[in-house]
Amino acid sequence: MKIEVLRIGQRLVRDDRVTTHVALVARAFGASKIYMNEVNPEIKETLDKISKTWGGAFEVEFITNWKKIIQEKKREKIKIVHLTMYGQNINEADYTIEKENHILVVVGAEKVPREIYDLADYNVAVGNQPHSEISALAVLLDRVQKGSQFFTKYQNAQREIVPTKQGKNVIVKKTRD
Ligand SMILES: C[S@@+](CC[C@H](N)C(=O)[O-])C[C@H]1O[C@@H](n2cnc3c(N)ncnc32)[C@H](O)[C@@H]1O
Repeated sequence: MKIEVLRIGQRLVRDDRVTTHVALVARAFGASKIYMNEVNPEIKETLDKISKTWGGAFEVEFITNWKKIIQEKKREKIKIVHLTMYGQNINEADYTIEKENHILVVVGAEKVPREIYDLADYNVAVGNQPHSEISALAVLLDRVQKGSQFFTKYQNAQREIVPTKQGKNVIVKKTRD
């Protein structure tokens, strides 16, 4: 399954850390790209550095018009999965979503525009209590890939972790420049 993420709106600088963590979760849980609006450009630099060190080809794209992205994806038959505490229980939706070939997961920062609920193919709640876009994204991506994302090899990594029960084992493939 190909996965992309769209994060809509943020509380400007105050939310930089959360936005960075949404992008880190997207990358580490198998998404190939994140679209973001109104963000500090340093977030892309942080993600690019992480990918340089730990591999993979995760993309960060800054956008100005979220609706255009959703409409383009819908034209390409990509399914829109909007994470919202008001949505359908994930326990009922995950079996269907995991069969999709390509999804765009939409997460908000604060109140999201009403239109998104209608544009989405799935409005999915990770429980019907308010929590966080970071946790909601992680749970959804894990459910729809059933943990398979954690076997992914990230290509062209400078460093690769060898999982160990105790201590740390890291293979350094190239020196940092
Ligand atoms: C801080 S919350 C905003 C909550 C806000 N009351 C709203 O309109 O949904 C930011 C984002 O986290 C995600 N989120 C929070 N709780 C969630 C839940 N229980 N299920 C799914 N997504 C959730 C949604 O994507 C939401 O836009």
